[in-house]
Amino acid sequence: MPKTPVIIDCDPGHDDAMALMLALASPELEVVAVTTVAGNQTLDKVTANAIRVLDVVGADAVPVAAGADRPLVHRAAVAADVHGETGLDGPDLPPPSRDPEPIHAVELMARELRKRPLTLIPVGPLTNIALLIAMYPDLVENIEDIVVMGGAIGLGNVTPSAEFNIWCDPEAAKRVFESEADVTMIGLDVTHQAMLSAARADALRDKGRAGAVVADLHAFYRRFHLEVYGHDDTPVHDALAVAHVIDPKILNTTQLNVELDVTQGPCRGRTVVDQLRRTDRPANAHVAVGVDADRFIDLLTERIGSLA
Ligand code: BDR
Ligand code: CA
Repeated sequence: MPKTPVIIDCDPGHDDAMALMLALASPELEVVAVTTVAGNQTLDKVTANAIRVLDVVGADAVPVAAGADRPLVHRAAVAADVHGETGLDGPDLPPPSRDPEPIHAVELMARELRKRPLTLIPVGPLTNIALLIAMYPDLVENIEDIVVMGGAIGLGNVTPSAEFNIWCDPEAAKRVFESEADVTMIGLDVTHQAMLSAARADALRDKGRAGAVVADLHAFYRRFHLEVYGHDDTPVHDALAVAHVIDPKILNTTQLNVELDVTQGPCRGRTVVDQLRRTDRPANAHVAVGVDADRFIDLLTERIGSLA
């Protein structure tokens, strides 16, 4: 089987880190590059974290480029309550072994898209992807799919209405969902039905360095979930987006219209999904509506456990 070439645009982030490890452990994917965007923490921190995660698995050949250091229009916010001051609190990781590439993330994506079609997997705010579409509209036809972790049909996790990645930069999300590209939306509706338990995470501790790092990541990440949701099972949002590209049987998707709320009111950042087709707006996204949680967690833990 030919590998699917992907670029992962991320803001590590505990679940971003697990998403990167899952991708790098998976023979179905070729990770062409990793790009970063300000989100869970500042751009310098998430870029260092991306390289630190690649260092754990020895992915020295995968280029890392830093992108937008703030949303398009509004000010940056971070998620230190979820991911800590470093953005990756928990494991004792050494400093990054290298600097990011001397090229902007958007330029790196454009360079690779000129060579061949690619799948983009943005698992942070959509700032870089919106900039790519704005700067290089001719390259949109070379984007196979934009598999977004973000949004929700139902409830939000940063406000009652909005999911964090979309809420950070709703204007960017609007640009992406309104583009000509294929967009797949993997939102909280499915990520919250596919939790990694403390027991499954802890069982990775004896399975090599990557497994031990994931066990430490989960031990920190679950504190927030215990406090807010009352259980120490955690969604692994970003890894579910990667898993969908590896194994399309994990998620059920439906073609629906998604409209972005970019107003300043209480619904700012909401992904308004026309699930009951109450408008005549055409479908603009494949929206994940169901998940085989066991299939996902088995894939995630087996693949991470297989890393050295
Ligand atoms: C998303 O927000 C971030 O905190 C996570 O990394 C994930 O991408 C979930 O809402
Ligand atoms: Ca993320």
